[in-house]
Order: sequence, then C-alpha cells, then structure tokens
Amino acid sequence: MLVIAILIYILAWLFFLWVVASFFVFKCWQYPPYIPSFGKVKHTLLQETAKILKSARKPLVVADLGCGDGCLLARLARQFPQHKFIGYEWNPLPFYLAKLRLKKYPNVRVIKADVMQENLSSIDVVICYWLSEKGYAQKLARSLKKSTIILSEVFQIKGWKAHKKVVSQLFGFQTRVFIYHMSEQTARKRKK
Ligand SMILES: C[S@@+](CC[C@H](N)C(=O)[O-])C[C@H]1O[C@@H](n2cnc3c(N)ncnc32)[C@H](O)[C@@H]1O
Repeated sequence: MLVIAILIYILAWLFFLWVVASFFVFKCWQYPPYIPSFGKVKHTLLQETAKILKSARKPLVVADLGCGDGCLLARLARQFPQHKFIGYEWNPLPFYLAKLRLKKYPNVRVIKADVMQENLSSIDVVICYWLSEKGYAQKLARSLKKSTIILSEVFQIKGWKAHKKVVSQLFGFQTRVFIYHMSEQTARKRKK
C-alpha cells in the first residue's frame, strides 16, 4: 500500500514538473489562456450537444474549436462512438494533453492548428468555449455549411441571433449556452 502511495506521489510530481517545463519549452505564454470547461455550464453544453447527436439520422462530424485538453470531446466520443469528433488546438501543451487523453477513441482526431486557417466545411456541429479572437464570427460565417449548428459556452457570437439560449451556472452566477443555426445566419453571411 505504502509503495503504491509513494509511486502515485512520484508520478504526480513528475506530471506537475512536466506541465511546468512544457509551459516554457512550448512557449505557452504566446497563446490565450487555456481554461478547461467545468461545472454546470459544461454539463449544459454536453447535454445540449447530446440531444443533437442522439436525434441524428446519420453520423455527424463534431468539432471543438479550441479543444484544450479535450475534456468535452472525451465525454462525447465515449457516449457517441457512431459520430466523428475533431479537436483543433494551437497551444502545444493542451494539444499534447488532448492527444494523450483521446488516443483511445478511434472516432476522434486532434489537429494542432490555428482554427482561423482551417477548412471547416465538413463540420456538422461546432462546440466552443472561446470567442475572443477578432474575425471569429466572420470566419465561421465564411467556412461553415448552412446546416451546421454551433453551441457556444458562455460567450455570444457578436452580431448573430441565437436560435436558443439555455440558462446555466458558472461559479454560482447565471450564464448561458448559446445555440446558433448557421441557416439562420445566411442572410448575414451573404452580406459579408
Ligand atoms: C477556454 S479554452 C476551452 C477548451 C475546451 N474547449 C474546453 O471547453 O474545455 C480555449 C482553447 O482554445 C484554444 N484556442 C484559442 N484560439 C485558438 C485558435 N485560433 N486556434 C486553435 N486553438 C485556439 C486555446 O489555446 C485554449 O486551449
């Protein structure tokens, strides 16, 4: 028992040191903060995504734009092996954590890339918890197909009208998951 406890202690320290060292090796300060989803609002996002995936008549492609360590994708990929999942992440530290975490799921691909430069036209469902980047709304409008559904945790997409807003909580404060249908943004897309 003592040996196992010592082993866990050593492994925990090694992991901590690896995270700290990687932060400097990968120059992670160059990227916006990587903050994993948590709490009730994470649960709400997963629940709303699950509703869409359960009712789908064909396999869908679901992408987390800025997947962090892959915590959202891990839950969904396990629950829905019939659907395909893609995680985009440009910060090397969370990217490698996501790779490690998700390698047991054959229906998940993690891509190290700037999502603003990627072709997103095959995606059916977008999940995201990050919208700070300038030009993000325009990028989505330009590259997503008309049938795509976007679920955004906490942050609204500037200038877009949500199809549905689901009330949730973060740190005991009220927040929302915003659900957008690309088809309802078409008029705006044409204007851009
Ligand atoms: C707030 S975290 C959310 C992580 C994950 N989606 C979750 O909910 O746990 C946002 C992530 O998006 C990544 N990110 C931000 N801008 C990006 C970009 N242009 N391309 C790829 N990843 C990006 C950040 O590195 C960060 O890990």
